[in-house]
Amino acid sequence: MMKVLVTGGGGFVGSHLVEYYARKNYAVVAFDNLSRASTLDKVIGNTCHTWKLLKNNYADVELVNGDVRNFQAVRDSLKGVDAVIHTAAQVAVTTSLANPRADFETNALGTFNVLEASRLNDVDIVFCSTNKVYGSNVNSIPITCGAKRYSFADEEYLDGIPEGFPTDLCEHSPYGCSKLAADTYVQEYAHTYGLRAGVFRMSCVYGERQFGVEDQGWLAWFVLATLTSRQITIFGDGKQVRDVLYISDLVRALDLFLSSNIRSEVFNIGGGPTNTLSILELLDLIEEFVGSRPNISFSDWRPADQKVYVSNISRARKMLKWEPIIGPREGVKRLVRWFTENIELFR
Ligand SMILES: NC(=O)c1ccc[n+]([C@@H]2O[C@H](COP(=O)([O-])OP(=O)(O)OC[C@H]3O[C@@H](n4cnc5c(N)ncnc54)[C@H](O)[C@@H]3O)[C@@H](O)[C@H]2O)c1
Repeated sequence: MMKVLVTGGGGFVGSHLVEYYARKNYAVVAFDNLSRASTLDKVIGNTCHTWKLLKNNYADVELVNGDVRNFQAVRDSLKGVDAVIHTAAQVAVTTSLANPRADFETNALGTFNVLEASRLNDVDIVFCSTNKVYGSNVNSIPITCGAKRYSFADEEYLDGIPEGFPTDLCEHSPYGCSKLAADTYVQEYAHTYGLRAGVFRMSCVYGERQFGVEDQGWLAWFVLATLTSRQITIFGDGKQVRDVLYISDLVRALDLFLSSNIRSEVFNIGGGPTNTLSILELLDLIEEFVGSRPNISFSDWRPADQKVYVSNISRARKMLKWEPIIGPREGVKRLVRWFTENIELFR
């Protein structure tokens, strides 16, 4: 039987992976320091909802309250594991600006610890990287401005940003830097030590159990804020565009990599050019499904914000035989349903 360890298993992406592999009857370990859950406790009274849900519904899943900054803890947990999916991270750009050392320690050093433990225990690795590795270079692509969205104007990028896009000589934010360092290390371990490694540079992933806050998880935050009458600040003009990927489509992509014969690869992963949303378009969708619009105000752009980011997903399509299935309309509808059914968590 395959044994999989998911770092960040108590988080949004991680918990969906834990569920997916538990349902496939794999042996699963969820490894998380519950830092996100305890932050959310203060903000929305979350009380480790996801961790409890895994505990109550998946008795065979091993839950480890551990920290990726602790090498020995990671190494011990990886004994006997076939594959690790490393989702644990400090995930907010704003937090990385306020406390770059903490961001570095979790994202760069934490990933290094997971890698080194994987090398010593001979474990395959999938790393959740980010489109932020391309930093403000993305903003050098000419764009056009429509009534509700920006679009790339350069023909070269009509299919989105490919994996070879430059990462040099631009702003990244400390978060972008710590993830890029980690991303590069994962590739290096694949080259130098022959580790089997998949790097997935994720755009905007969304879905159930995403406890979006203003600083991270914008799509979920907008839905939640609308349903609970919280004020929303839009940084910039709301025409910024992302390709959005529903969580089950991401989980499938990561699993396709693990079950393939590919040794190591970097993938840009997101909804791609046919699954994009601007903030203003999201507000329209929310109004349609919720029946009301949120209270919004506008503020300045944030450092290193990308006006348009769309992943070129051709490589994932071709090598993984993968395609996103759930479009933004259906995905947002499902998200609204989940928040509505679980609204007591947020009161
Ligand atoms: N959700 C997205 O749209 C998106 C986009 C790009 C990249 N990513 C990347 O995907 C991964 C998962 O993101 P998510 O949206 O599920 O975030 P999340 O905050 O829901 O999950 C991250 C989990 O990691 C845990 N964690 C944080 N620091 C830790 C540490 N030092 N040791 C152990 N656990 C720790 C947190 O408690 C949390 O449960 C992250 O690596 C993030 O950078 C996410």
